[in-house]
Amino acid sequence: MLLAWALSVLNPAPLSLRRLGYVRQSGLLHARSRRCRAAWAPHLARARGVITAAAESTRQRRHAVVLGSGLLDDVPLGDLARLFDRVSLVDAAHPWPARLAARRNAKVALVTADISAGLSGSWTDRCTSADLIVSANLLSQLPLVPIDAHEARGREAPPRLGAHLVDAHLAALDALARRVERVCLITDTVQREEDRTGRTTDSRDLLFGITVPPAEATWDWEIAPFGEIGRSHRLIHRVNGYTDWKAARR
Ligand SMILES: C[S@@+](CC[C@H](N)C(=O)[O-])C[C@H]1O[C@@H](n2cnc3c(N)ncnc32)[C@H](O)[C@@H]1O
Repeated sequence: MLLAWALSVLNPAPLSLRRLGYVRQSGLLHARSRRCRAAWAPHLARARGVITAAAESTRQRRHAVVLGSGLLDDVPLGDLARLFDRVSLVDAAHPWPARLAARRNAKVALVTADISAGLSGSWTDRCTSADLIVSANLLSQLPLVPIDAHEARGREAPPRLGAHLVDAHLAALDALARRVERVCLITDTVQREEDRTGRTTDSRDLLFGITVPPAEATWDWEIAPFGEIGRSHRLIHRVNGYTDWKAARR
């Protein structure tokens, strides 16, 4: 908790996004990713593999855009910067690994934006010049801060808010896929809770009832190993990887 707090205090994010809760969420993610480094490694390797495959299949290589770039743990930035003339990293809060990466590599630019506003936000200006757009483990995260914001005010979030935000992001990717050569999507879809015997004790739809097409690659992400949320339970997310979202939607 102390590490998450320190990481969010030190993040030089705009006050508006800080107030909404994105910087706090980024600090929590950063701290958890370091605690769960070993458990997350296989998932991060699979996600990077999907993004690299998408990048290598993109013929025009002027500009790659990564939505939800975060800590860059699942983003093969070295490959993207080698293959493309420039790389834009878009997130509501850029933690220090992304800031350092952008400082070290002149091809890499940071764009701070709230992506949940569909295609109406200023971040879409970047996407119109892109050849490759990657949505990197962002989709299921989009509803979290808006739902928390309602609950923090003692109000229940509108029942369709989560579904609306997931649907709006997929619609934005569909629209972008008509304009750019390739769109790559990585998203977790379902969370299951398991006990030490391997029995599923609970499960949750992370996409709020919105369905996605079958993916070329699927894998498990042990997001909270035993000990992270309790001694006798762990959380596992099912992840879908699409190197070509346009083809998957057909
Ligand atoms: C699970 S992380 C993605 C993992 C990330 N690709 C990495 O390697 O660390 C989700 C990211 O989405 C970002 N995010 C969540 N909601 C957002 C929004 N409305 N607009 C922009 N970024 C958002 C978070 O700040 C976080 O960095």
